[in-house]
Amino acid sequence: MSIPTFAKLAEKIAVGLGAKFSPVESKTFPDGEAYMRFNQSFENEQVIVIQSCYPQQDRRLIELFMMLDAAKDLGAESLFAVVPYLAYARQDKRFREGETIGISTVTKLIESCGADAFLTVDIHKEESLKLFNINAVNLSAMHELGKYLKESSLGRPYVVAPDKGAIEHAKKVAEVLGADYTFFGKTRDLKTGEVQTSVKDAEVRDRDVVVVDDIISTGGTIANVARIIKNQGARKIIAACTHPLLVKYAKTKLQEAGIDEIVGTDTIESDVSRVTVAKIIAGALRALV
Ligand code: R5P
Repeated sequence: MSIPTFAKLAEKIAVGLGAKFSPVESKTFPDGEAYMRFNQSFENEQVIVIQSCYPQQDRRLIELFMMLDAAKDLGAESLFAVVPYLAYARQDKRFREGETIGISTVTKLIESCGADAFLTVDIHKEESLKLFNINAVNLSAMHELGKYLKESSLGRPYVVAPDKGAIEHAKKVAEVLGADYTFFGKTRDLKTGEVQTSVKDAEVRDRDVVVVDDIISTGGTIANVARIIKNQGARKIIAACTHPLLVKYAKTKLQEAGIDEIVGTDTIESDVSRVTVAKIIAGALRALV
């Protein structure tokens, strides 16, 4: 079994699996195109290509497609695509007439580049996996995030989902913490992307509150909730997510809204990636390959 890639997370997964780790040579041509080279052939091997879609996401995707395509061509007997953070998953339907559906295009390309199976972590909507004709698995990092938070000795913890879509994530974290949970109402302007959060009376007074979501991108969603619960008397507020994209001024926005700590996983490597998903991915792969 071989794991060709260049990310730190992939190396950890290979160690956990006891698989051979095979780094990939990569560079950028002067015109911006990607070049990649494997340093081995994969004749009769089970190959796991691990590629997360950290920014620049488009570049990560073309690298993924090229690695899958070449690994198959170089003799892979079976080919597993592991994409811890799958980009384009939020555009999962036509919200406005005429829109492209990113996740539909991305899943088609992963499959047509030769993947025999697919694995990801906290995909934006689990139903999107139905777009695949191959075996497709979604893992949740919420238990791991919950375990990390439990060690932080939170006082009377309470968990909040910033929208209805994140309620299952909040529930999982709350179970580990032995805490109550709730969700807020959120609407997004389809043209500007601006988020409105409806005020809800949450039982947060004098409690340490974890606001949990799948992705923190601009930070707008969680900042809105943080401002509301700060006003309602929350003591410490922690923003927790699986995929810490944290684009532009997200961290400042969150701090200014009253967030005391941001914690994410290593599906995207950042200075808040304090929880690893290597163990859950290696465990799932052990059962699948
Ligand atoms: C969307 O529904 C997602 O679950 C996240 O809530 C969203 O992507 C967060 O984006 P931002 O941090 O830009 O508000």
